[in-house]
Amino acid sequence: YEIYLNGMTGAVPRLPTDLTRLEELTERRLGPGPVGYVAGSAGNGSTARANRAALERRRIMPRMLRDVHERDLSVEVLGRPLPAPLALAPVGVLSIMHPEAESAAARAAAAHGVPYILSSASSTPMEQVAEAMGDAERWFQLYWPKDPEVARSFLARAKAAGFGVLVVTLDTPLLSWRPRDLDQAYLPFLHGVGTANYFSDPAFQAGLAKPVHEDPDAAVTHFVGMFSDPAKTWPDLAFLRENWDGPIVLKGVLHPDDARLAAEAGMDGVVVSNHGGRQVAGSVAAADALPRVAEAVGDRLTVLFDSGIRTGDDIAKALALGARAVLVGRPYVYGLGLDGQSGVEHVIRCLLAELDLTLALSGHATPSTIGPADLAEDPD
Ligand code: FNR
Repeated sequence: YEIYLNGMTGAVPRLPTDLTRLEELTERRLGPGPVGYVAGSAGNGSTARANRAALERRRIMPRMLRDVHERDLSVEVLGRPLPAPLALAPVGVLSIMHPEAESAAARAAAAHGVPYILSSASSTPMEQVAEAMGDAERWFQLYWPKDPEVARSFLARAKAAGFGVLVVTLDTPLLSWRPRDLDQAYLPFLHGVGTANYFSDPAFQAGLAKPVHEDPDAAVTHFVGMFSDPAKTWPDLAFLRENWDGPIVLKGVLHPDDARLAAEAGMDGVVVSNHGGRQVAGSVAAADALPRVAEAVGDRLTVLFDSGIRTGDDIAKALALGARAVLVGRPYVYGLGLDGQSGVEHVIRCLLAELDLTLALSGHATPSTIGPADLAEDPD
Protein backbone atom coordinates (compact mmCIF):
# COMPACT_ATOMS: atom_id res chain seq x y z
CA TYR A 1 0.00 0.00 0.00
CA GLU A 2 3.01 2.28 0.43
CA ILE A 3 3.10 2.92 -3.32
CA TYR A 4 -0.63 3.73 -3.47
CA LEU A 5 -0.41 6.01 -0.41
CA ASN A 6 2.52 7.90 -1.94
CA GLY A 7 0.45 8.14 -5.11
CA MET A 8 -2.08 10.29 -3.25
CA THR A 9 0.56 13.03 -3.27
CA GLY A 10 1.23 12.44 -6.96
CA ALA A 11 4.39 10.33 -6.50
CA VAL A 12 4.78 7.26 -8.68
CA PRO A 13 7.61 4.69 -8.50
CA ARG A 14 10.86 5.71 -10.24
CA LEU A 15 11.09 2.33 -11.96
CA PRO A 16 8.29 0.14 -13.31
CA THR A 17 6.79 -2.45 -10.97
CA ASP A 18 6.51 -4.88 -13.90
CA LEU A 19 10.14 -6.00 -13.84
CA THR A 20 9.98 -7.47 -17.34
CA ARG A 21 10.15 -3.86 -18.62
CA LEU A 22 13.56 -3.19 -17.06
CA GLU A 23 15.66 -4.74 -19.85
CA GLU A 24 14.33 -2.36 -22.50
CA LEU A 25 14.75 0.68 -20.22
CA THR A 26 18.32 -0.33 -19.36
CA GLU A 27 19.21 -0.72 -23.01
CA ARG A 28 17.86 2.75 -23.73
CA ARG A 29 19.94 4.16 -20.83
CA LEU A 30 23.21 2.23 -21.24
CA GLY A 31 23.29 1.23 -24.88
CA PRO A 32 23.43 -2.18 -26.53
CA GLY A 33 26.98 -3.30 -25.55
CA PRO A 34 26.61 -3.97 -21.80
CA VAL A 35 22.94 -4.92 -22.08
CA GLY A 36 23.80 -7.35 -24.88
CA TYR A 37 26.19 -9.09 -22.52
CA VAL A 38 23.62 -9.26 -19.72
CA ALA A 39 20.52 -10.07 -21.75
CA GLY A 40 22.28 -12.39 -24.17
CA SER A 41 22.17 -16.13 -23.93
CA ALA A 42 23.49 -19.22 -25.65
CA GLY A 43 22.77 -20.10 -29.26
CA ASN A 44 19.63 -18.59 -30.72
CA GLY A 45 18.19 -17.88 -27.28
CA SER A 46 15.91 -20.92 -27.20
CA THR A 47 16.99 -21.99 -23.70
CA ALA A 48 16.28 -18.57 -22.21
CA ARG A 49 12.87 -18.56 -23.91
CA ALA A 50 12.20 -22.12 -22.71
CA ASN A 51 12.98 -21.00 -19.13
CA ARG A 52 10.24 -18.40 -19.33
CA ALA A 53 7.81 -20.70 -21.14
CA ALA A 54 8.24 -23.48 -18.55
CA LEU A 55 7.33 -21.06 -15.76
CA GLU A 56 4.48 -19.43 -17.65
CA ARG A 57 3.00 -22.75 -18.73
CA ARG A 58 2.52 -23.69 -15.08
CA ARG A 59 -0.45 -21.99 -13.46
CA ILE A 60 -1.31 -21.63 -9.82
CA MET A 61 -4.62 -23.09 -8.63
CA PRO A 62 -5.55 -20.72 -5.80
CA ARG A 63 -7.28 -22.01 -2.67
CA MET A 64 -10.04 -19.98 -1.02
CA LEU A 65 -11.21 -19.43 2.55
CA ARG A 66 -7.90 -20.11 4.21
CA ASP A 67 -6.77 -17.79 6.95
CA VAL A 68 -4.01 -15.64 5.45
CA HIS A 69 -4.37 -12.54 7.58
CA GLU A 70 -1.06 -13.24 9.31
CA ARG A 71 1.71 -14.16 6.93
CA ASP A 72 5.41 -14.96 7.12
CA LEU A 73 7.74 -15.33 4.13
CA SER A 74 10.71 -16.46 6.20
CA VAL A 75 12.45 -19.77 5.49
CA GLU A 76 15.47 -21.64 6.74
CA VAL A 77 18.08 -22.39 4.08
CA LEU A 78 21.25 -24.36 4.84
CA GLY A 79 20.69 -23.74 8.54
CA ARG A 80 20.35 -19.99 7.99
CA PRO A 81 17.15 -18.15 8.85
CA LEU A 82 16.25 -15.96 5.84
CA PRO A 83 13.49 -13.33 5.66
CA ALA A 84 12.24 -14.76 2.36
CA PRO A 85 13.03 -17.55 -0.11
CA LEU A 86 15.16 -15.25 -2.27
CA ALA A 87 18.86 -14.61 -2.91
CA LEU A 88 20.69 -12.48 -5.46
CA ALA A 89 22.39 -14.75 -8.01
CA PRO A 90 26.12 -14.45 -8.63
CA VAL A 91 26.61 -12.12 -11.60
CA GLY A 92 30.10 -11.08 -12.59
CA VAL A 93 31.42 -7.88 -14.17
CA LEU A 94 28.77 -5.58 -12.67
CA SER A 95 30.91 -2.49 -13.29
CA ILE A 96 29.61 -2.59 -16.86
CA MET A 97 26.22 -1.64 -15.38
CA HIS A 98 27.11 0.84 -12.64
CA PRO A 99 30.30 2.33 -11.16
CA GLU A 100 29.43 1.01 -7.68
CA ALA A 101 28.97 -2.45 -9.20
CA GLU A 102 28.83 -5.40 -6.77
CA SER A 103 29.11 -3.19 -3.68
CA ALA A 104 25.83 -1.44 -4.54
CA ALA A 105 24.05 -4.74 -5.22
CA ALA A 106 25.45 -6.21 -2.00
CA ARG A 107 24.31 -3.22 0.07
CA ALA A 108 20.82 -3.55 -1.41
CA ALA A 109 20.70 -7.24 -0.51
CA ALA A 110 22.00 -6.48 2.99
CA ALA A 111 19.32 -3.82 3.50
CA HIS A 112 16.66 -6.53 3.06
CA GLY A 113 18.48 -9.44 4.70
CA VAL A 114 18.57 -11.24 1.35
CA PRO A 115 21.78 -13.28 0.82
CA TYR A 116 24.14 -11.78 -1.72
CA ILE A 117 26.07 -14.36 -3.74
CA LEU A 118 29.27 -12.75 -4.93
CA SER A 119 30.65 -13.98 -8.25
CA SER A 120 34.30 -14.93 -8.39
CA ALA A 121 34.28 -12.91 -11.64
CA SER A 122 33.21 -9.74 -9.83
CA SER A 123 34.56 -6.31 -10.73
CA THR A 124 35.24 -5.66 -7.05
CA PRO A 125 37.53 -7.68 -4.79
CA MET A 126 35.62 -9.87 -2.34
CA GLU A 127 37.03 -8.11 0.75
CA GLN A 128 35.68 -4.76 -0.44
CA VAL A 129 32.21 -6.22 -1.06
CA ALA A 130 32.28 -7.85 2.38
CA GLU A 131 33.11 -4.51 3.95
CA ALA A 132 30.13 -2.90 2.21
CA MET A 133 27.83 -5.52 3.75
CA GLY A 134 28.69 -5.41 7.45
CA ASP A 135 27.41 -8.61 9.08
CA ALA A 136 24.83 -9.36 6.40
CA GLU A 137 24.45 -12.81 4.89
CA ARG A 138 26.84 -13.41 1.99
CA TRP A 139 27.81 -16.44 -0.03
CA PHE A 140 30.76 -16.87 -2.39
CA GLN A 141 30.46 -18.33 -5.89
CA LEU A 142 33.47 -20.17 -7.24
CA TYR A 143 34.49 -20.64 -10.82
CA TRP A 144 36.94 -23.38 -10.02
CA PRO A 145 40.38 -22.12 -11.09
CA LYS A 146 42.77 -24.49 -12.78
CA ASP A 147 45.56 -23.72 -10.30
CA PRO A 148 44.72 -25.38 -6.94
CA GLU A 149 46.76 -22.76 -5.10
CA VAL A 150 44.52 -20.02 -6.48
CA ALA A 151 41.42 -22.08 -5.62
CA ARG A 152 42.71 -22.61 -2.09
CA SER A 153 43.55 -18.94 -1.75
CA PHE A 154 40.05 -17.89 -2.94
CA LEU A 155 38.42 -20.19 -0.38
CA ALA A 156 40.62 -18.91 2.44
CA ARG A 157 39.98 -15.27 1.49
CA ALA A 158 36.22 -15.86 1.21
CA LYS A 159 36.11 -17.52 4.62
CA ALA A 160 38.13 -14.72 6.20
CA ALA A 161 35.83 -12.14 4.61
CA GLY A 162 32.74 -13.73 6.18
CA PHE A 163 31.21 -15.55 3.22
CA GLY A 164 29.30 -18.43 4.82
CA VAL A 165 28.25 -20.68 1.94
CA LEU A 166 30.30 -21.82 -1.05
CA VAL A 167 28.42 -21.98 -4.35
CA VAL A 168 30.41 -23.88 -6.96
CA THR A 169 29.29 -23.28 -10.53
CA LEU A 170 29.63 -26.43 -12.62
CA ASP A 171 28.05 -25.37 -15.88
CA THR A 172 30.84 -23.09 -17.11
CA PRO A 173 33.93 -25.20 -17.77
CA LEU A 174 33.99 -23.23 -21.03
CA LEU A 175 32.15 -20.13 -22.16
CA SER A 176 29.34 -21.06 -24.53
CA TRP A 177 28.55 -19.85 -28.03
CA ARG A 178 26.90 -16.48 -27.39
CA PRO A 179 25.97 -14.75 -30.63
CA ARG A 180 25.17 -11.32 -29.15
CA ASP A 181 28.68 -11.12 -27.68
CA LEU A 182 30.32 -12.71 -30.70
CA ASP A 183 28.64 -10.30 -33.11
CA GLN A 184 29.79 -7.31 -31.08
CA ALA A 185 33.17 -9.00 -30.43
CA TYR A 186 32.61 -8.04 -26.79
CA LEU A 187 33.81 -10.04 -23.79
CA PRO A 188 34.29 -7.94 -20.62
CA PHE A 189 37.02 -10.18 -19.17
CA LEU A 190 39.37 -9.44 -22.07
CA HIS A 191 39.20 -5.80 -21.04
CA GLY A 192 40.23 -6.74 -17.51
CA VAL A 193 36.64 -6.44 -16.22
CA GLY A 194 35.61 -9.20 -13.80
CA THR A 195 39.19 -10.04 -12.89
CA ALA A 196 39.41 -8.17 -9.55
CA ASN A 197 39.47 -11.26 -7.33
CA TYR A 198 42.24 -12.78 -9.44
CA PHE A 199 44.40 -9.68 -9.85
CA SER A 200 44.25 -9.05 -6.08
CA ASP A 201 45.14 -12.65 -5.23
CA PRO A 202 48.65 -13.47 -3.97
CA ALA A 203 48.59 -17.00 -5.44
CA PHE A 204 47.48 -15.63 -8.82
CA GLN A 205 50.12 -12.89 -8.69
CA ALA A 206 52.77 -15.50 -7.92
CA GLY A 207 52.15 -16.99 -11.39
CA LEU A 208 52.93 -13.70 -13.18
CA ALA A 209 56.35 -12.65 -14.48
CA LYS A 210 55.58 -8.96 -13.77
CA PRO A 211 53.08 -7.27 -11.44
CA VAL A 212 49.58 -6.77 -12.92
CA HIS A 213 49.98 -2.99 -13.33
CA GLU A 214 53.25 -3.42 -15.24
CA ASP A 215 51.86 -5.91 -17.75
CA PRO A 216 48.06 -5.98 -17.64
CA ASP A 217 47.79 -7.88 -20.93
CA ALA A 218 49.86 -10.76 -19.58
CA ALA A 219 47.67 -10.77 -16.45
CA VAL A 220 44.53 -11.05 -18.57
CA THR A 221 46.07 -13.91 -20.55
CA HIS A 222 47.00 -15.67 -17.31
CA PHE A 223 43.42 -15.17 -16.10
CA VAL A 224 41.96 -16.69 -19.28
CA GLY A 225 44.07 -19.81 -18.83
CA MET A 226 43.16 -20.04 -15.15
CA PHE A 227 39.49 -19.12 -15.05
CA SER A 228 37.97 -22.59 -15.38
CA ASP A 229 38.95 -26.19 -15.77
CA PRO A 230 37.11 -28.45 -18.21
CA ALA A 231 39.04 -31.48 -16.92
CA LYS A 232 37.34 -31.57 -13.50
CA THR A 233 35.20 -34.59 -12.53
CA TRP A 234 33.10 -35.64 -9.53
CA PRO A 235 35.95 -37.06 -7.40
CA ASP A 236 37.61 -33.60 -7.50
CA LEU A 237 34.88 -32.32 -5.17
CA ALA A 238 36.85 -33.86 -2.30
CA PHE A 239 39.31 -30.96 -2.71
CA LEU A 240 36.56 -28.46 -1.92
CA ARG A 241 35.39 -30.40 1.12
CA GLU A 242 38.97 -30.40 2.42
CA ASN A 243 39.37 -26.67 1.91
CA TRP A 244 35.94 -25.34 2.94
CA ASP A 245 34.29 -26.18 6.23
CA GLY A 246 30.87 -24.60 5.60
CA PRO A 247 27.97 -25.64 3.36
CA ILE A 248 28.76 -26.33 -0.31
CA VAL A 249 26.13 -25.92 -3.00
CA LEU A 250 26.62 -27.05 -6.61
CA LYS A 251 25.13 -24.63 -9.14
CA GLY A 252 24.05 -25.71 -12.60
CA VAL A 253 22.66 -29.15 -11.82
CA LEU A 254 19.81 -30.17 -14.14
CA HIS A 255 19.95 -33.97 -14.40
CA PRO A 256 18.53 -35.96 -11.47
CA ASP A 257 21.49 -38.36 -11.70
CA ASP A 258 23.89 -35.43 -11.18
CA ALA A 259 21.83 -34.37 -8.17
CA ARG A 260 22.26 -37.90 -6.76
CA LEU A 261 26.03 -37.69 -7.39
CA ALA A 262 26.07 -34.38 -5.52
CA ALA A 263 24.40 -36.03 -2.54
CA GLU A 264 26.82 -38.98 -2.66
CA ALA A 265 29.75 -36.54 -2.76
CA GLY A 266 28.57 -35.07 0.55
CA MET A 267 27.42 -31.76 -0.85
CA ASP A 268 24.80 -29.72 1.01
CA GLY A 269 22.71 -28.42 -1.84
CA VAL A 270 22.21 -27.83 -5.54
CA VAL A 271 20.99 -24.90 -7.58
CA VAL A 272 18.84 -26.21 -10.41
CA SER A 273 19.92 -23.74 -13.07
CA ASN A 274 20.92 -23.47 -16.70
CA HIS A 275 22.78 -20.20 -16.05
CA GLY A 276 19.80 -18.20 -17.31
CA GLY A 277 20.00 -19.99 -20.65
CA ARG A 278 23.55 -18.76 -21.18
CA GLN A 279 25.46 -22.03 -21.38
CA VAL A 280 23.92 -25.08 -23.11
CA ALA A 281 21.95 -24.01 -26.17
CA GLY A 282 18.96 -26.32 -26.37
CA SER A 283 19.16 -27.25 -22.68
CA VAL A 284 16.12 -28.40 -20.76
CA ALA A 285 14.25 -25.49 -19.19
CA ALA A 286 15.32 -25.11 -15.58
CA ALA A 287 11.72 -25.25 -14.30
CA ASP A 288 11.17 -28.53 -16.16
CA ALA A 289 14.28 -30.02 -14.55
CA LEU A 290 13.35 -28.83 -11.04
CA PRO A 291 10.62 -31.34 -10.08
CA ARG A 292 12.80 -34.27 -11.15
CA VAL A 293 15.76 -33.06 -9.12
CA ALA A 294 13.53 -32.32 -6.13
CA GLU A 295 12.10 -35.81 -6.33
CA ALA A 296 15.58 -37.38 -6.57
CA VAL A 297 17.29 -35.54 -3.71
CA GLY A 298 14.79 -33.22 -2.03
CA ASP A 299 14.99 -35.24 1.19
CA ARG A 300 18.81 -35.17 1.26
CA LEU A 301 19.90 -31.83 -0.22
CA THR A 302 18.74 -28.23 -0.14
CA VAL A 303 17.30 -27.62 -3.59
CA LEU A 304 17.54 -24.05 -4.86
CA PHE A 305 16.46 -22.76 -8.27
CA ASP A 306 17.23 -20.05 -10.80
CA SER A 307 16.86 -19.20 -14.49
CA GLY A 308 13.88 -17.22 -15.66
CA ILE A 309 12.49 -15.77 -12.41
CA ARG A 310 10.95 -12.39 -13.26
CA THR A 311 7.92 -12.06 -10.96
CA GLY A 312 6.65 -13.00 -7.53
CA ASP A 313 4.38 -15.64 -9.01
CA ASP A 314 7.40 -17.24 -10.73
CA ILE A 315 8.91 -17.63 -7.25
CA ALA A 316 5.69 -19.19 -5.94
CA LYS A 317 5.73 -21.67 -8.83
CA ALA A 318 9.37 -22.63 -8.21
CA LEU A 319 8.56 -23.24 -4.54
CA ALA A 320 5.62 -25.40 -5.59
CA LEU A 321 7.92 -27.40 -7.88
CA GLY A 322 10.23 -28.24 -4.98
CA ALA A 323 12.67 -25.34 -4.53
CA ARG A 324 13.46 -24.18 -1.02
CA ALA A 325 14.40 -20.72 -2.32
CA VAL A 326 15.22 -19.03 -5.62
CA LEU A 327 18.00 -16.88 -7.01
CA VAL A 328 17.26 -14.00 -9.30
CA GLY A 329 19.79 -12.77 -11.87
CA ARG A 330 19.09 -10.32 -14.68
CA PRO A 331 16.24 -8.30 -13.08
CA TYR A 332 18.44 -6.98 -10.27
CA VAL A 333 21.28 -6.33 -12.72
CA TYR A 334 18.96 -4.07 -14.73
CA GLY A 335 17.83 -2.43 -11.49
CA LEU A 336 21.49 -1.73 -10.75
CA GLY A 337 22.06 -0.31 -14.24
CA LEU A 338 19.05 1.99 -13.94
CA ASP A 339 19.35 3.27 -10.39
CA GLY A 340 22.30 1.75 -8.52
CA GLN A 341 21.61 0.41 -5.03
CA SER A 342 18.04 1.77 -4.96
CA GLY A 343 17.32 0.13 -8.31
CA VAL A 344 18.34 -3.25 -6.86
CA GLU A 345 16.27 -2.55 -3.75
CA HIS A 346 13.30 -1.74 -5.98
CA VAL A 347 13.62 -5.15 -7.64
CA ILE A 348 13.90 -6.99 -4.31
CA ARG A 349 10.91 -5.16 -2.85
CA CYS A 350 8.74 -5.73 -5.92
CA LEU A 351 9.55 -9.44 -6.00
CA LEU A 352 8.87 -9.91 -2.29
CA ALA A 353 5.65 -7.86 -2.28
CA GLU A 354 4.34 -9.74 -5.29
CA LEU A 355 5.34 -13.09 -3.80
CA ASP A 356 3.57 -12.24 -0.54
CA LEU A 357 0.38 -11.22 -2.36
CA THR A 358 0.43 -14.17 -4.76
CA LEU A 359 0.90 -16.70 -1.96
CA ALA A 360 -1.77 -15.02 0.19
CA LEU A 361 -4.31 -14.77 -2.62
CA SER A 362 -3.63 -18.43 -3.40
CA GLY A 363 -4.34 -19.44 0.21
CA HIS A 364 -0.79 -19.76 1.58
CA ALA A 365 0.26 -17.93 4.72
CA THR A 366 3.84 -19.26 4.43
CA PRO A 367 6.03 -20.52 1.55
CA SER A 368 6.01 -24.03 3.00
CA THR A 369 2.40 -24.91 2.18
CA ILE A 370 2.48 -24.53 -1.61
CA GLY A 371 3.26 -27.76 -3.46
CA PRO A 372 2.91 -29.59 -6.76
CA ALA A 373 -0.84 -30.15 -6.19
CA ASP A 374 -1.31 -26.36 -6.29
CA LEU A 375 -0.14 -26.14 -9.92
CA ALA A 376 -1.92 -26.85 -13.16
CA GLU A 377 -0.23 -27.06 -16.56
CA ASP A 378 -1.49 -25.01 -19.46
CA PRO A 379 -2.56 -27.42 -22.17
CA ASP A 380 -1.13 -24.92 -24.75
C1 FNR B 1 25.50 -14.70 -14.83
N1 FNR B 1 25.50 -15.89 -14.10
C2 FNR B 1 26.65 -16.22 -13.39
N2 FNR B 1 26.66 -17.35 -12.64
C3 FNR B 1 27.75 -17.67 -11.89
O1 FNR B 1 27.72 -18.69 -11.22
N3 FNR B 1 28.85 -16.85 -11.89
C4 FNR B 1 28.89 -15.70 -12.62
O2 FNR B 1 29.88 -14.97 -12.59
C5 FNR B 1 27.79 -15.38 -13.43
N4 FNR B 1 27.80 -14.28 -14.22
C6 FNR B 1 26.66 -13.91 -14.90
C7 FNR B 1 26.66 -12.73 -15.63
C8 FNR B 1 25.50 -12.31 -16.26
C9 FNR B 1 25.50 -11.01 -17.00
C10 FNR B 1 24.31 -13.08 -16.16
C11 FNR B 1 23.01 -12.63 -16.77
C12 FNR B 1 24.32 -14.26 -15.45
C13 FNR B 1 24.30 -16.72 -13.99
C14 FNR B 1 23.44 -16.29 -12.81
O3 FNR B 1 24.05 -16.62 -11.58
C15 FNR B 1 22.07 -16.99 -12.82
O4 FNR B 1 22.23 -18.38 -12.92
C16 FNR B 1 21.16 -16.51 -13.96
O5 FNR B 1 21.31 -15.14 -14.19
C17 FNR B 1 19.73 -16.83 -13.60
O6 FNR B 1 18.89 -16.55 -14.63
P1 FNR B 1 18.04 -15.18 -14.77
O7 FNR B 1 17.46 -14.86 -13.40
O8 FNR B 1 19.02 -14.13 -15.23
O9 FNR B 1 17.04 -15.54 -15.79
